[in-house]
Amino acid sequence: MSGVAVRLENVHKAYEKGGATIRVLTDCNLELAAGEAVSIVGPSGCGKSTFLHLLGMLDRPGSGRILFDDKDIAAMRESGRDRLRNRHVGFVFQAHHLLPEHSAIDNVAIPARLAGCSAAVARGRAEALLKAMGLGKRISHRPGELSGGEQQRVAIARAMVMGPGLVLADEPTGNLDPATSDGVFERMMDMVNQLGSTLVVVTHSLELAGRFSRRLRLNDGHFEEVTV
Ligand SMILES: Nc1ncnc2c1ncn2[C@@H]1O[C@H](COP(=O)(O)OP(=O)(O)O)[C@@H](O)[C@H]1O
Ligand SMILES: [Mg+2]
Repeated sequence: MSGVAVRLENVHKAYEKGGATIRVLTDCNLELAAGEAVSIVGPSGCGKSTFLHLLGMLDRPGSGRILFDDKDIAAMRESGRDRLRNRHVGFVFQAHHLLPEHSAIDNVAIPARLAGCSAAVARGRAEALLKAMGLGKRISHRPGELSGGEQQRVAIARAMVMGPGLVLADEPTGNLDPATSDGVFERMMDMVNQLGSTLVVVTHSLELAGRFSRRLRLNDGHFEEVTV
């Protein structure tokens, strides 16, 4: 499938903690075209991960609508959200979260198996993705037998195995040194471009953020376009 168009309408999200209310997103509005790529910056604690969790259906807003191609995912039942997430959303986190006892190819194939693909199809896709990530000679390695940059490339391949319409990346290269980060980032961008996925990248690197033609800053609970 190609990219998902995303729209947030009047989204609010607060957390209740120890009797206090932490208001994170307040009347947040945003529109992303299908296949659009944006970067998001903002100070630590401003709600960037919260926003990605709402978009990725890992959490629900307190109020407001979140539309995927005009379907309100905030109002959907959990079973529908699980299916949509598994099929159409790819997550890349700062930490790779690979399963340590499984090889690279199995780690990448697992989401496809969970979505109902045969073992042969899932492994075929996983191998092709690992090759595209420059890991053709590492498919049998376990995470502990790979470098940090290689582990993150496996995690990116895993995020892409279902051909997601939306890719959400939360500081995807935040744990890597600058030279490694650059290579991993470029490969992620190439793969997203090939798939035509809509892409949201949270980063604290102004250099990485600046490579996107559309840049957003999350400030005081809402998005601002960065124009300089
Ligand atoms: N599950 C939670 N319960 C209570 N407060 C939370 C929870 N998750 C995040 N927060 C708070 O919400 C705010 C935004 O967090 P987060 O989205 O992780 O920010 P960012 O990713 O921009 O650093 C922070 O003040 C954080 O402490
Ligand atoms: Mg965060």
